[in-house]
Amino acid sequence: MGESVFPKDFLWGAATASAQIEGGWDCDGRTPSIWDVAPVNKIKGGADCHTACDHYHHWREDVAMMKELGLKSYRFSVSWSRVLPEEGKRNPKGIQFYSDLVDELLKNGIEPLVTIYHWDLPVWMQEKGGWLSNSIVPLFADYTRVVVDALSDRVSWWIPMNEPQCFIMNGHMTGNHAPFVSHYLALPKLTRNCLMAFHESAEVIRKNAKKKPKIGIASASSAFIPENEGKAAVAEARRKSFYYKSGVMSNRWWLDPLLLGETVRAYGIYSLRKSDMPKIQTKLDFIGVNNYSPFQENWYGTNDALPAEKKNSLGWVNDGRGIYWAIRFLHERYQLPIMITENGMCDNDDLSDDGCVHDAKRIGYMDDYIGNVQRAVSEGIPVLGFQYWSLMDNFEWAEGYGPRFGLIHVDYKTQKRTIKDSGFHYREIIETGALG
Ligand code: NOJ
Repeated sequence: MGESVFPKDFLWGAATASAQIEGGWDCDGRTPSIWDVAPVNKIKGGADCHTACDHYHHWREDVAMMKELGLKSYRFSVSWSRVLPEEGKRNPKGIQFYSDLVDELLKNGIEPLVTIYHWDLPVWMQEKGGWLSNSIVPLFADYTRVVVDALSDRVSWWIPMNEPQCFIMNGHMTGNHAPFVSHYLALPKLTRNCLMAFHESAEVIRKNAKKKPKIGIASASSAFIPENEGKAAVAEARRKSFYYKSGVMSNRWWLDPLLLGETVRAYGIYSLRKSDMPKIQTKLDFIGVNNYSPFQENWYGTNDALPAEKKNSLGWVNDGRGIYWAIRFLHERYQLPIMITENGMCDNDDLSDDGCVHDAKRIGYMDDYIGNVQRAVSEGIPVLGFQYWSLMDNFEWAEGYGPRFGLIHVDYKTQKRTIKDSGFHYREIIETGALG
């Protein structure tokens, strides 16, 4: 094992999201989100997220397991309809839940990273038009203010939104995510409302947080891998990563307006008007990168031909070089530190007869991806942390409970948690900073 190149304060953590783990969907005054009311045929196996991992009742046990894993940070999201079950109505019990969680994390030496919005729009907001309604901009700012007032005396790390790429595109274009609609022509309006809401939320945090905040976006970003590491091939991969297919729609469409104040033209439309920019360009402290697979030429193609060891159980390509090039290209273009806000692999993990989960494939995946993060760090690129997705198996949106991403296995019938082999492996990486 070599010497660790990771800085001492590197945030080794794991991530989750409210709708995917909490359950307690109607507890203590919470009202439903758009995922709670998903039509039965929209989610594999007819599943719902009403109970999920029942983290709402198991959170102390879950923090104890984070401690056992040696985590230094934990990224979680707040459920909007738990803290504001109706427009303008605060729910003290819902707010208390997150406040207690933050206390418990800090007591265990774990830094909280708070995502304000991870896709679970309140039904009351959807009924007002959701992301298609301009009213979401001030209402999202009000919601942010409630969370900031409650937590910012103890929380420093803030992520106003998770993956606009997905909740706008999957939710409102392809329609396979809540609210399950297809409004292709509304893309510019959705982009504008989403980025303006992001901007306002970041302003609210910046102006009102009691502890000096560090603010970033969690972006579904990636890169094309150069054919070789010669100058020309790297330049071509860099160009494609921002100006070609998914490079445009995943990276530049969202990040150029937000970070450079520039509108983007794609498929004959502009994302935004120049006059919108003062209300969109946002000063951030880091770019959060959610990275799973490199960009591919066959954007909509399947990976059927790939052998199983080169893809996850959803068919997404596993190739750690993608995370290195994503870190490098995004840092070069936007000149901000990078935080890996999500990276992980799903499989059909099960308990073995010995009561353990022997997920050797995930261990290999981690070594590959974290090894590539290590390369970026050793080249001097500022990388602030790595949040494994996910702390535990959970509700994978339209895919239901089949794909298991966790470091911790969850038996959804008994809610029994079991740390997988990969969880122990991750603990070792955290302890030594060296890969196996
Ligand atoms: C992206 C999302 O942020 C998260 O909610 C999801 O479960 C993972 N990636 C895996 O698909």
